[in-house]
Amino acid sequence: MLKPIIALAPMADYTDQPFSLLCREVAGKNFIIYREMVSSQAITRGNAKTFGMCETVRREHPVIMQIFGDQPVVMAQAARIIAEKFQPDGIDINMGCPVPKIAHKTRAGAALMKYPDLAVEIIEAIKAEKLGLPLSVKTRLGWSADNEIFDFAPRLAKAGIDLLTIHGRTKAQGYAGAVDWKNIGVVKKLLKIPVLANGDIRTPADIKRCLAVTGADGVMIGRGALGNPWIFKTVRSSQFSVLSSQFTVSKQELIRTVLRHAELHLAHYGERGMTTFRKHLAWYFHGERVAGWSDVKKIRAELVRVSTMPDLQKILERLE
Ligand SMILES: Cc1cc2nc3c(=O)[nH]c(=O)nc-3n(C[C@H](O)[C@H](O)[C@H](O)COP(=O)(O)O)c2cc1C
Repeated sequence: MLKPIIALAPMADYTDQPFSLLCREVAGKNFIIYREMVSSQAITRGNAKTFGMCETVRREHPVIMQIFGDQPVVMAQAARIIAEKFQPDGIDINMGCPVPKIAHKTRAGAALMKYPDLAVEIIEAIKAEKLGLPLSVKTRLGWSADNEIFDFAPRLAKAGIDLLTIHGRTKAQGYAGAVDWKNIGVVKKLLKIPVLANGDIRTPADIKRCLAVTGADGVMIGRGALGNPWIFKTVRSSQFSVLSSQFTVSKQELIRTVLRHAELHLAHYGERGMTTFRKHLAWYFHGERVAGWSDVKKIRAELVRVSTMPDLQKILERLE
């Protein structure tokens, strides 16, 4: 594995097959894709929609599939089904999701930080399947305190995981508030397995800073990749030059990429898929990259209502 490791973060409703394929087309093979989390219960029930979420094609790899759940037996069965049916390059266990349906109603996601014995049982159950695939965990600094990870991470490593990703926030912080890369660095020193640092990485300069602060083996990028697949393109060139691709994408390149992403999205979800593509449009046309484009303001209101490919093309033509 090339170091530093660069990974696209798992994001529900975003890191689906069309977005993964787009990132590959834009940026090549030098990063790992984590697909959105899927329910272990739904996998073991054979839920068709959930199976659809796991489909991959060869050119998408390396791809990691992430599962969530709080029942060791079910998690192990789900991991086996996914390994055999979809052949990912690894399985990741979600131990960081704060959504109430998962972390409050059940002991899955971020709640597993409060039940380390259960977290270890889940890892052991999946390991016992001997799937021949790397097993990783993605978690946070803690449920409420940002030092809970100091006890939690060594237990996960001892149970036999191959890699740990840490989002530098607590469950209580959700997705806002200051990210703490420093504590990720403390954990990195405690473990022998590779650690990926995650949280608030938006530019190659951020990657460089995060690696310096954490000493991590790599970084995982979430929202910084939404509407910005180019983030993966330049990170390996010129030793992390501070030149961010984010701000150098031309209007033509942006429009071409948006249309290609829409094409992949509709091919996967059908013509009605444009409704669910709107959330990506919001990311493509938001932020500093398009701040200087006076004509963007005018089309934003239309983009959130767009429902067909010809409509999207017409709106974007006005930008050119
Ligand atoms: C819309 C959205 C969906 C997410 N879904 C998942 C998920 O399915 N599994 C997971 O482990 N984390 C999920 N996350 C958390 C991200 O993987 C990541 O840890 C978090 O966004 C912080 O990184 P960032 O600042 O680079 O975005 C999600 C985040 C967002 C914004």
